[in-house]
Amino acid sequence: MPIAARIHNVADARCLARRTLPRAVFDYIDGGAEDEVTMGENERAFREIAFRPRVAVNVGRPRLDTTVLGTPVALPVLLAPCGLVQLMHPEGALGAERAAKRAGTVSVLSAVAGTPLETLADEPGPRWFQLYAAERDTAEQLMGRAAGAGFESLVVTVDTPTLGNRERDVRNGVAGSLRLDARSVIRLGPQILAHPGWSLRMFRSGMRLFTRAPGSPVTTPGTGAQTTDGPGERPVGATSSAGAVVMLASPFTWDDIAWIRSRWSGHLLVKGVLSGDDAVLAAEAGADAVVVSNHGGRQLEGAPATIRVLPEVVAAAGDRLEVLLDGGVRRGGDVIKALATGARAVLVGRPYLYALAAAGEAGVERMLDIFSSEMSRTLSLLGCPGVSDLDRSWLQEP
Ligand SMILES: Cc1cc2nc3c(=O)[nH]c(=O)nc-3n(C[C@H](O)[C@H](O)[C@H](O)COP(=O)(O)O)c2cc1C
Repeated sequence: MPIAARIHNVADARCLARRTLPRAVFDYIDGGAEDEVTMGENERAFREIAFRPRVAVNVGRPRLDTTVLGTPVALPVLLAPCGLVQLMHPEGALGAERAAKRAGTVSVLSAVAGTPLETLADEPGPRWFQLYAAERDTAEQLMGRAAGAGFESLVVTVDTPTLGNRERDVRNGVAGSLRLDARSVIRLGPQILAHPGWSLRMFRSGMRLFTRAPGSPVTTPGTGAQTTDGPGERPVGATSSAGAVVMLASPFTWDDIAWIRSRWSGHLLVKGVLSGDDAVLAAEAGADAVVVSNHGGRQLEGAPATIRVLPEVVAAAGDRLEVLLDGGVRRGGDVIKALATGARAVLVGRPYLYALAAAGEAGVERMLDIFSSEMSRTLSLLGCPGVSDLDRSWLQEP
């Protein structure tokens, strides 16, 4: 039986990923900041919301299609930008992109995915690129490349002025830079040997991740899978020796978002907003949308669960911004709850990363298929004809 067929829900994919990946790589995906309270709350908060079904209605086949910033999507579940996807499976960002396209949705390429953005230039359909709050020179250069490669939307992540305290990574000795250079390979040797399937896959893919000598010059940001999502522990220049995009040495402000707006003609989304006040500032800086996100609980421990702040952000956004959400979405029912609360779409991070690690592109496709069928079933059982009919009257909120 193909591995993807053994995935029936996110928890299955997580189990398979845990078995497949060296511990340090699995923990990098699975972990959050400090006591992982915010990470856990993201999921728990969805469970506190119940549905308010209507019965004896014929809804036919529920409709999942909608638009996000004018782009039609068949499934309002996007793949969140994630760093180092190449480390989970050699099919990496390209596999995720292709699986997303087949499901009729969008995959957002992280600036630190480990794949040069030009790799996706020939892929059909809408393409979104995520940028960390980088120094202006770096941002300008990346925006130029993204526009040149046909990316339509830019997602600027603003919740990482410094790296969250991810203690699993600290314990595994990979905090701030999970890199597979010669030294790490020796240090992580026992874990790598204990996962021959993963090692073989990496070997067959040319083991590009292992070969770059530290400090060797790299001209294309995003090619070196040598940094985690977020800034290194100390601010460095525009690109690190690994070629990864790193962060601002000086504080990043709403003026920088306005500056990005003045130079980016496509859609602009601000990711990491957790209050109505910041949604207003994002609109004033010229953003088209915000992503309500706490980075999957990997940054500020104690940040609220995203679904809990969604109503405040939706109210502040009004008609000026579209609002997306990520964090803790694990079931199609969670997607329905977020859409009913006013999100235009959701993004998922770990669910697709687990599936990618377990079964590559086919795993991601399977995961999106599961979200789709869970959403359809939930809508049928709710008595709701489609996602565009959802509002808070379908929910019983705590
Ligand atoms: C392994 C991993 C890497 C990530 N890398 C990035 C990144 O490069 N850029 C970014 O904006 N967010 C990054 N994120 C955060 C995701 O985009 C998203 O906000 C988060 O995963 C959503 O929560 P979920 O994992 O519960 O779905 C990363 C998350 C994970 C789990």
